[in-house]
Amino acid sequence: MCFGGHAHYTQHSDHTAHEIPIVLWEDDPQMNIYNLTHYPNGRQHSGLGTNMACIPLTLAGFAATQDPKNVVVELGPFLGLSTKCIAVGMRKNGVKDKTLFVYDTFSGLMNFKAIQRMHPWLKNEHPEFTQQNDNFHFLWEYGVKPTYPAVVSHQGFISKESLNPEALGHRPVALISIDSAKNNQHLQQQLAGLGPLTKGSILMMMDFEFVREHIILFYACLREKHLLPVYLSWGMEHWMWIVTEDVDLADPKYYQCYSGYKASKDGRSHVVDLAMRDLLMLSGLTDDATMSDTFASVRNELSEKISSVLQNA
Ligand SMILES: C[S@@+](CC[C@H](N)C(=O)[O-])C[C@H]1O[C@@H](n2cnc3c(N)ncnc32)[C@H](O)[C@@H]1O
Repeated sequence: MCFGGHAHYTQHSDHTAHEIPIVLWEDDPQMNIYNLTHYPNGRQHSGLGTNMACIPLTLAGFAATQDPKNVVVELGPFLGLSTKCIAVGMRKNGVKDKTLFVYDTFSGLMNFKAIQRMHPWLKNEHPEFTQQNDNFHFLWEYGVKPTYPAVVSHQGFISKESLNPEALGHRPVALISIDSAKNNQHLQQQLAGLGPLTKGSILMMMDFEFVREHIILFYACLREKHLLPVYLSWGMEHWMWIVTEDVDLADPKYYQCYSGYKASKDGRSHVVDLAMRDLLMLSGLTDDATMSDTFASVRNELSEKISSVLQNA
């Protein structure tokens, strides 16, 4: 919880938040937790469970843009708290044109309802934002632009027409964060035009653990050859991966592999072992290490869940 950022971003009162620096920005008092988690008008800028992933996103944004030719892509930023987490890391390397690209419908009934619930002040301050007029791009922009003015946004359903090398200036994607794919078909469709992610790039799956299909696809078909997990938020859905060998996540062969895994019982114990070894590695512990009871229960619960998904696919 500390490494992910949950404690950092939630366990403070508004007045102390001004004094708590953002990771990587300890030398700049303006870059504080209050400014990260509030709109310029002082209202809380909320996200959907993003706090557990904010510090990894910041570190990834920084790492990905150390080489100025790279770009960063975010799919499904919603109101943009996750965009801001990435952008504060990128900003450490300077704000550059056509380097941060986000894609969202920025509309829809479910989003509208969530936004109304999270931001009741909008009713008075933006009465034009209604169920019929539900585009919330203005709010995403209001939250994110002060942190990274050069951010580029694409409004609409993500597809190969909008997300492709040309749209990204034919520059390498060193970080892609995905919160818009809720099954394997979404993942394949949304990434159909992107092409391969190259070795060394970072893949943040913001909704990994709650999508059984992703767990199977990644562990049965991608983990051994192409991906290594480097962070997970223990029961809170986010998993971050490093690409160890170039991989096109829309390539039909991985989805055939997924169907093959489901159709046969062979090789399952090997895949479960792989996942269990990763969970051990990601907890930073060895088998015989003593854990706090709280962490042991979280870790054991997650291990059981992942192994059951892979065993009973
Ligand atoms: C769970 S929310 C993202 C939460 C966000 N990352 C945060 O920090 O709070 C998922 C977002 O994905 C977007 N989305 C889902 N499917 C999409 C699609 N096919 N094309 C574009 N956006 C999509 C939704 O509009 C929504 O804003």
